[in-house]
Amino acid sequence: EEASNMSSEQTFIAIKPDGVQRGLVGPIITRFEQRGYKLVAMKLVSPSKEHLEKHYEDLADKPFYKGLVTYMLSGPICAMVWEGREAVKTGRTLLGATNPMASAPGTIRGDYAIDVGRNVCHGSDAVESAKKEIDLWFKKEELMSYKPANFDWIY
Ligand code: PPS
Repeated sequence: EEASNMSSEQTFIAIKPDGVQRGLVGPIITRFEQRGYKLVAMKLVSPSKEHLEKHYEDLADKPFYKGLVTYMLSGPICAMVWEGREAVKTGRTLLGATNPMASAPGTIRGDYAIDVGRNVCHGSDAVESAKKEIDLWFKKEELMSYKPANFDWIY
């Protein structure tokens, strides 16, 4: 049977400054790899304030917006694109609820965070926003195309 790639999506996942500083890059990547998602792009970056304001433009009128941007400026961020079946929705499931106090144990935030203002990671909330975010954070040529070794039996 041909690998069922029909619902294959790409999602933007970022390990926030606290996650990078706490040495959680490896554990977070491992969860996506082990679930069967394919790493398509990855870089450690220190984006400008303008870049982060663009990333969070929909939240501009929220009371936490300024603090959120300041937090995201506090250190390097590990920006990634992961691909696979329902990557956007399942990516959010792997991250756990936005507020870590509501995140189930076994999720990234449920295992590593207790503060919504230091919630370790970001994941796109819809296919459309994933497209926008990937476009904002990555150049076309930074997205890799390859066939992972486990492709045939995971899908
Ligand atoms: S909202 O209000 O429903 O739009 O917010 P939500 O979708 O839950 O979260 C959007 C992003 O805002 C961050 N957030 C916060 N940061 C700091 N303090 C508080 N109180 C707070 N509430 C929400 C939240 O982590 C989301 O960031 P990302 O990077 O998208 O995970």
